[in-house]
Amino acid sequence: MSATDSLALQAPAKINLFLQILGRRADGYHDLHSLVQAVSLYDTLYLEITDRGFTLTSDSDQAPPDPSNLIWRAWDLLRSETQISSGVSIRLTKRIPVGAGLGGGSSDAAAALKGLNRLLKLGISNAQLAKLGARLGSDVPFFFSGGSAIMEGRGEQISDCEPPVDYFVVLVVPNFAISTVDAYAKLRFYLTRFSTKSDINLAASGANFFRTLNRVGNDFEHVVFPQHPELESCLKTLQRAGAQHAALSGSGSAIFALFDQAPDPELTAAITSRYGWQVYGLLPVRLTRE
Ligand code: C5P
Repeated sequence: MSATDSLALQAPAKINLFLQILGRRADGYHDLHSLVQAVSLYDTLYLEITDRGFTLTSDSDQAPPDPSNLIWRAWDLLRSETQISSGVSIRLTKRIPVGAGLGGGSSDAAAALKGLNRLLKLGISNAQLAKLGARLGSDVPFFFSGGSAIMEGRGEQISDCEPPVDYFVVLVVPNFAISTVDAYAKLRFYLTRFSTKSDINLAASGANFFRTLNRVGNDFEHVVFPQHPELESCLKTLQRAGAQHAALSGSGSAIFALFDQAPDPELTAAITSRYGWQVYGLLPVRLTRE
């Protein structure tokens, strides 16, 4: 096997630094306004050219290698849109928790599109790949950005931006998942009114940046916290430990906290022992485009 016949790609997780739900659309989706940031927690995809057909293997029961897997759907989509004559096998190593609002499945789909484009020399532009990605899921186009972006529409409208990235992220993943579809469905019962798009100044740095994030927040918290009060209690623990900003990511179940200095390792130990949840120390990351 030569180096041009195989390739490994890192698929990062994302967090929503703020997330507003602006309203329900005629197509059943919701219009969003969110600042999304890639973070240093990765799935890995190993791609290899084979004689024919497609095989997918996964090391996780949470992301089974069947046709519903977004990696499989990315392959089906590219095969229907382009002339692919060779076969491909993809092996997935899953590290991003599933059902946590971290965009792992979408990131895997984006990495599959990027990897297949590169490996099979399809010559599709980054912008075109992002557009194809939007057909697989609302969060997919973000992963074709530079790693920090404002997300609008149902998620497919991505504007790159350069907010501060000089902070530390503590990510807490509880031992339960939340279905995005259910969280959106519950919005109707919990939200008395949708948000109005907030004015934000992304040039703000330091305390002003964190203040902006605090002011805007995440609308899903109104839906998720009443059902999972222990999440709100953990969020308060993170705030008391000196977090500049702490919030739910996406529709949950993960919560994150941003610190302007490396957080005390005792904090991780305290959360693990009190809640029994997974804690990660991460950094915001930039992504390179195709
Ligand atoms: O686009 P994706 O397949 O990831 O969306 C999953 C579900 O989440 C949709 O079927 C819809 O119920 C909900 N959703 C929404 N508004 C969005 C994104 C997702 O209502 N902007």
